[in-house]
Amino acid sequence: MSRIVYVNGEYLPEEEAKISVFDRGFLFADGVYEVTSVIDGKLLDYEGHARRLARSLSELDLAAPATDAEMLEIHRELVTRNGLTEGMIYMQVTRGADADRDFVFPDPAAVSSSLVLFTQAKALVDHPAAERGMRVISVEDIRWGRRDIKTVQLLYPSMGKMMAKKAGVDDAWMVEDGHVTEGTSNNAYIVKGGRIVTRHLGPEILSGITRAAVLRFAREAQMEVEERAFSIEEAQQADEAFVTSASTFVMPVVEIDGTPLGDGVPGPVARRLREIYIEESRRSAI
Ligand code: PDD
Repeated sequence: MSRIVYVNGEYLPEEEAKISVFDRGFLFADGVYEVTSVIDGKLLDYEGHARRLARSLSELDLAAPATDAEMLEIHRELVTRNGLTEGMIYMQVTRGADADRDFVFPDPAAVSSSLVLFTQAKALVDHPAAERGMRVISVEDIRWGRRDIKTVQLLYPSMGKMMAKKAGVDDAWMVEDGHVTEGTSNNAYIVKGGRIVTRHLGPEILSGITRAAVLRFAREAQMEVEERAFSIEEAQQADEAFVTSASTFVMPVVEIDGTPLGDGVPGPVARRLREIYIEESRRSAI
């Protein structure tokens, strides 16, 4: 069944949606994106995603393609038009299409941003990996130095997922200077003696919207949280591990580079945080 997608002011069947060959998102990965999850036909953590989008745009001198109210309206309209009850909404803003390929940014007065949104229906709450847990490998983190900006430069994360696939596991954790930065498309955590450890924020990682919510819920539930870097060796000796993202919520990790963690099954902290995240996000979804 064909989806209705949004492209620069129009709602169109996906086969009819078109973007210029000169679009800078296509030619230079000159664009940013957000992924917002939907449960019960409602948007999760929408405010956080909208705030991070505004920051990504401003860091790259990109013009906002719509007002906050228009952007929320487009998200909701796509949910309605596609009858989406559970899944994700992908939103991408690029520096639009100048008249020709040119490394130099076009004059903002002469070019307008491109805005594209589409839905992806997917079971998020009853995700099969939540029961069995994910197995990950470590890969070197060779991405650029501004990973705090959610750009569409996703070639290396794609390659990381391909390395994981080739190794017969689910995903990869990236390592820089001996420390885990994050997963290919998620934030990474370990748990030892009940204490949750996740990398501190900075240009090395994306400030996950799910991360912020989960850390808040963990602290509210009197769990101890430490925001600092950790190594793969420390992670392999942890009691449990997990990742967070808009598309996985809280997902247990049960094996790192072939070493099972604890009993090799999803741990109690990850399970509990997943429950709390789903319950609380459902309550506050808009
Ligand atoms: N990825 N780190 C990276 C590198 C990511 O790509 C993502 C999200 C996260 C988690 O951020 P959040 O909790 O705000 O989703 C961390 C999205 C889901 C994606 O690319 O599909």
